[in-house]
Parts: sequence; structure tokens; C-alpha cells
Amino acid sequence: MYINLAIDDMTDCVKRGYDRVCVQTKPEAMFLNKVACKIMNGKILEIGRKMGGSLIVLCLSSPDSRVYSMDISTAHIKRVKQNLKYYGVRASQYKLITADSTGLHTNFKKKVLRKAKEKVGAKFVYLDKLDMLFVDGDHRREFVIQDLIRWTPRVIPGGSILLHDYYSDKYKLEGVDVEANSKFKQYKLQYADRCGRSCLFTKVKH
Ligand SMILES: C[S@@+](CC[C@H](N)C(=O)[O-])C[C@H]1O[C@@H](n2cnc3c(N)ncnc32)[C@H](O)[C@@H]1O
Repeated sequence: MYINLAIDDMTDCVKRGYDRVCVQTKPEAMFLNKVACKIMNGKILEIGRKMGGSLIVLCLSSPDSRVYSMDISTAHIKRVKQNLKYYGVRASQYKLITADSTGLHTNFKKKVLRKAKEKVGAKFVYLDKLDMLFVDGDHRREFVIQDLIRWTPRVIPGGSILLHDYYSDKYKLEGVDVEANSKFKQYKLQYADRCGRSCLFTKVKH
């Protein structure tokens, strides 16, 4: 399915009386597409997939890349797979990972692990040399910082880090002021662009 049609369909479905597939607005989904479509035969990691909307955009935008999607919840996995299939994404292109991206949830083991395949504390060694990291998981400040600490070292120099929701009014109090935060310098992230609630950084080449 053509990416523009898929984005129109996913971002309009609530108006048409269907369940929400994509949390991104249409411009944000187009922005995600603009960043991902530059990646050829690469590796992308998404943190936070919910119903799979942004995962579908990533897969369709960069069809020869492998896309890994991590979420702490197993609640929507069946629907996510149905949604991916409906929008024409090959099952071999993506991997759904059930894990706490931050490692800060101490009760994760009891609650989720019995259903999940991945082990708590798994090192995910295969998630290295990432061309793109899309962070849309837990938006609380310490959790966002932890996602940055854990995952940005795995992005290649010149790679993209896209954060969603850090400019919305809803998250102003608990969100991260990305442009001001010294962590971004520390992790060699340079502000590149923004769209709606999404903010794009590039990993500096050294
Ligand atoms: C805003 S939704 C993601 C929406 C999706 N990216 C989209 O655009 O359609 C946030 C997701 O992050 C997940 N999440 C929250 N905390 C997490 C954590 N510590 N590790 C992994 N996923 C987490 C939630 O389960 C939820 O599905």
C-alpha cells in the first residue's frame, strides 16, 4: 500500500468510527515518513508501539530495513499484527519485542514477563548500529532520560533520533525540554528539526 494512502487511512480512521491505529497526527506521521524513507537497508528501533501506527509508517517508509518495536505491554499484540497485515507490511520485516525499554519498572517481571518471550534484563545485543531510534514510550522525565541513556549509544554517527510528544501542552510539566537539556549534548545529539509534538536529533559524527 502506498505510504500516503496508509497515513491518510490511519489518521482518519477515528473520524470514520474505527479504533485509533496511529497516535501521530497526519503531519507527524508524514514527518516520521520523511526521516525513515532516507534509510536504505538499515536498522530501526521503535520504543512504544501501542496499536502499531508508527510501526506501520516506519516499515512502509523504509521497506528494505528491519524494524524492531519494543513495548512494555502485551495488550494489543493481536491487533498490532492485524493492523500490520492490513497495511501490507511483511511479517519478516519487523520484530515485536515485549520489554521495559527503561529498565526502571521493578514490577515489570511479575506483571508481564510470564506472557513475554524476552527476558528482563536482556541485553538485546542485536539492537546495535541503529540507523534510527524513534522514542514514544513512557513520557515521564526520568524515563525519557533513561531511554536516551540506554539506546542513543546504539545509534550510528549520522543516525536519527526522533522523540514524540515532548512539545505537547499535556506533557509540558513532566516532559523533557529537549533543546535545553544538557543530556543531548552529552549523547552527541544535535537538534535537527521538529514537527508538531515531534523533535528530530542527529547523532553527531566524530
Ligand atoms: C503513545 S503510545 C505509542 C504510540 C505509537 N508510537 C503510535 O504512534 O501509534 C506509548 C506506548 O509506550 C509504551 N510504554 C510505556 N512505557 C514503556 C516502557 N518503559 N518500555 C516500553 N514501552 C513502554 C506503552 O505501553 C504504549 O503502548
